[in-house]
Order: sequence, then structure tokens, then C-alpha cells
Amino acid sequence: MTFRRSQVAGCGSYLPARVMTNDELAEIVDTSDEWIVARTGIERRHIAADGETTSDLALRASTAALADADVAVDELDMIVLATATPDETFPATATAVQARLGMTRGFAFDVHAVCSGFVYAMAVADNFLRLRQADTALVIGAETFSRILDWSDRATCVLFGDGAGAVVLRSAEGDGGAGDRGILATRLHADGRKHDMLYVDGGPSSTRTTGHLRMRGKEVFRHAVVNLSSVVGETLADAGLTTDDIDWLVPHQANRRILDSTARKIGLPPERVIVTVQDHANTSAASVPLALDAATADGRIKPGDLVLMEAMGGGFTWGACLARW
Ligand code: ACO
Repeated sequence: MTFRRSQVAGCGSYLPARVMTNDELAEIVDTSDEWIVARTGIERRHIAADGETTSDLALRASTAALADADVAVDELDMIVLATATPDETFPATATAVQARLGMTRGFAFDVHAVCSGFVYAMAVADNFLRLRQADTALVIGAETFSRILDWSDRATCVLFGDGAGAVVLRSAEGDGGAGDRGILATRLHADGRKHDMLYVDGGPSSTRTTGHLRMRGKEVFRHAVVNLSSVVGETLADAGLTTDDIDWLVPHQANRRILDSTARKIGLPPERVIVTVQDHANTSAASVPLALDAATADGRIKPGDLVLMEAMGGGFTWGACLARW
């Protein structure tokens, strides 16, 4: 019996040209390079130029992913774009990317799960492909978090950056075993009771403003390690695999200490964790595909490798996606 799988055909990413260092931030708020590096591992972040939108970043990442996959725009059946910083309240930023790519068929929509958005989007696209409602999907994570930061709040403005990453998924037949190339398992969770720990204090139906990101950092940290290690275990179990089988953990890049603690808790050696947080900071839904693109471009992730992506974000939402490359 054959089994339909969503295989990763290619990756791409884009970072705005402007790089902001920790020393520059120390000129804006009472902080220091030493504090930021010691508490977060972040050394720099990219910041979108005035007028540069989430769809601008997403388009650049998508074009690169399509080229890497050798897939033409008219082969795409769907676009799912994860973002918490859309160009406009509506329509979906995915439709802006669709139009600008020149894609005139299929469908396009956004997924909103903040930092977990890319993992959610992969799960959604995988389900469409496995249900034969699409053959080829473009999955994007793109954010301009610089637009929702309170640049006077040192506890949050030092943590985030802007960027975009994308992957192309294509359906292929496998035998249903853990050796198949493609997505082997996905797991999603949400707990809306944790709203106050990480949210934006604005929105069209509440304050009618865009608002700013607010966070209780210590509590987010504690929940992140517990939730992420648990969802990693669930996802591996779904595929009948264990931590020892993982070639690469590609975590959401929130904070170096969260990455290290989660890897320690699941018993994975640090050399098998892809870390980009030092260069990108936390780019929310873009962080996992940015890290994927970095690690495939430099040859660390190779065809046949077992790659486990995980993320947690506001909501809380969290999840994982296990794929054989
Ligand atoms: N520079 C200098 N000092 C600072 C800064 C800063 N940028 N920010 C906070 N401080 C101060 C605080 O005011 C506090 O000072 P006090 O002791 O005089 O009151 C001191 O540093 C310690 O503050 P804490 O908040 O206790 O520091 P902590 O060690 O918890 O680190 C941090 C803060 C980095 C935010 C940490 O809690 C964290 O990483 N949490 C996870 C948050 C996260 O990653 N969120 C991303 C979104 S969710 C996700 O992606 C998983």
C-alpha cells in the first residue's frame, strides 16, 4: 500500500539589509551587549526598511524557495503564510504574495499562531497534500516584528528581528514507514488561558490600534522548555522514533538558553541543534524556515536526514513537525 507524503522540495529565505547590533540598541534603551548576549545569545538582528512590508520579505524568500525547488509558479496549488504582522488587517498577506508571484490559480491564506506559525502552517499544508486537495504548496513564515515592538521597553525590544523563510512542499508516494522522505508527523497545541504572558495590546476590534508586544519573560521561558520538550516527545512517538534518530533539531529561535535547555531536557547533543538566534534574534514565524534555509544552504541538512522542527509562541501555541529531508 502506498502512503502520500509531503516532501520538502526546496527552501529560501530573505533578511532585510539593515543590521542592528546590540550596541546600537544600548543607545536607545538602558541595556548592554553583555546583558543581551548573556541572557539571550542574540548579537544582532535585521530590521525592515521604512516601507518594507511583510509581503516584501515573503516574496523574496518565496522566489528563492521556488528556484531552489525548481518549481514554477503555475505549478503551485496553494500558499499558506504564517505571520502575526500582516501588511494589512485584511486581505491575507498570502494573497499579496500570490499576486506578486503572478500565481493566478489555486488558493492562498494566512495562518496566525505567532512564533509557532510556521509549524502550524506546515501541518496545515501537509494535511491538504495528504488529503489530495493540493499537490504543491508554498509554506512561508514572514514577519516585521520591529513594527509592533515598544522601543522604550528594554525587556522586549532587544529580543526580536525581521525576516522571512519559505519552503516548497510536493506530494510524493511513500510506504508509510519512518524511512519515507517527507513529513512524518506533526503535532499542534494551544492554551488560550496563557494569553497574558505574551500578547499585543492592540487590534482592530479592541483598541483599533496596532498595539505593542507585551511579555512576562520569565514565565514564557519556563513554559517554553516544558511544552517544547513534551511536544518533541509526542511527535517522535507518533512516528515510532526516538531522540537518538534525530539528525537535526531546528527549533524556533527565541533565546539561546531556551534552545540549550530544551535540547538538554530531550537528551540531544548541542552539535545537532541548528542555532541562528545570534544573527537573526527572534523572528517569530520566520525563525524556523530561516534556520532551515541556513542549514540546507551550508550542507548540514542533507537528503535523508531526520529533521525535527519545533516552536512555541503567544496564545500560548506550540507544536512540532518531523520530516525526513
Ligand atoms: N538589558 C538590561 N537589563 C535588562 C534588560 C535588558 N534588555 N531586560 C531586562 N533587564 C533587567 C530587568 O529589569 C531585571 O532587573 P532587576 O533585577 O533590577 O529588576 C533583570 O534584568 C532581570 O530581568 P529578568 O526578566 O528576570 O531576566 P531574565 O533572566 O528572565 O531574562 C528574558 C529575561 C531574556 C526576557 C528571559 O526571561 C527570556 O528569554 N524569556 C523568554 C522570552 C522569549 O523568548 N520570548 C519570545 C517569544 S515566546 C517564544 O518565542 C518562545
